[in-house]
Amino acid sequence: MGLNGLLDIEMAVPEPEELMAFWERRGLRRTGDGVLGTEDRPVQLRIVEGTHRHLTDLHLSCEAERDLADIAGRLHLLGVDTVIAGTELTCIDPVFGHRVHVEVGAPIPLTAHAERDRNRAGGTGRVGTRADAVLATEPRAPRRLGHVVLGTPHLEKATAFMFEGLGVRISDQVLGGLATFGRVEADHHNLLIQPCTVSHFNHYALEMDDIDAIGVAGAAVLAERPDADVVGIGRHFLGSNVFWYLQDPSGTTIEFFTDMDQILDDEAWDRDFGRRDWEGADGHAPFAVWGPKEPETFFMPVDLDVIGAAREAAGLD
Ligand SMILES: [Fe+2]
Repeated sequence: MGLNGLLDIEMAVPEPEELMAFWERRGLRRTGDGVLGTEDRPVQLRIVEGTHRHLTDLHLSCEAERDLADIAGRLHLLGVDTVIAGTELTCIDPVFGHRVHVEVGAPIPLTAHAERDRNRAGGTGRVGTRADAVLATEPRAPRRLGHVVLGTPHLEKATAFMFEGLGVRISDQVLGGLATFGRVEADHHNLLIQPCTVSHFNHYALEMDDIDAIGVAGAAVLAERPDADVVGIGRHFLGSNVFWYLQDPSGTTIEFFTDMDQILDDEAWDRDFGRRDWEGADGHAPFAVWGPKEPETFFMPVDLDVIGAAREAAGLD
């Protein structure tokens, strides 16, 4: 019962064709007008023209039609209007202003690619041949849209809508409730709300086959846009995923990630509600177990003024 998938997102950017071409060079497939998909999923990113970069639509799935009525009831209590038409509920996120669609269904399963043979201390998985990452002639393309992160000063309202209203399941809530990681699939996080001075679309993340696929994809972005690096490669505490964050041509941070914690049994997951002092753990920052320290611009993108002004003009605070 309840939400079971992050299906796709729509983004508005000033130069949609530039962003489409950027993702096609990374191996996403143009499957329609302004639509990009992966090998398995024909719709993952939809890109339209807008005055500034922002999220316009978040598309989730749920198991059964009765979930739609449950969600509508919970959102009503929060003062959010919903429309149910057939097997789809739509509403407007009361903080960010994007449309949210919840449709009865589920994400299309991914084809499992063969694991690369690897050697490790005390065990050999590859003898007499060079590594696949060395021999490969084609980069491995992103496999799916994995998560979306939103920053806002209106944390209480944003988290109430996302977790109490829509019913996104909380995986961890850290830094005194300032950041809430939630999931609709087995991934530790498909959605994350974090603090910022301006409500904005912080980043979107694409799952990769492995760390080599991340390295190749990230290096290819840097080869064409040397100033696109944001932070990486590293491994997060929350979600455990290996990451590399870079900027897409519209200025939105993107993440290539792999090896995220999977949660199938809610009861069995040791959820963190601030019990652990991640900030003090062996002197590490809460951001990563290892890897470069995140720049301030990770949480506070340089174009917040532009986004804030556009939101104000649209009547959003
Ligand atoms: Fe992320």
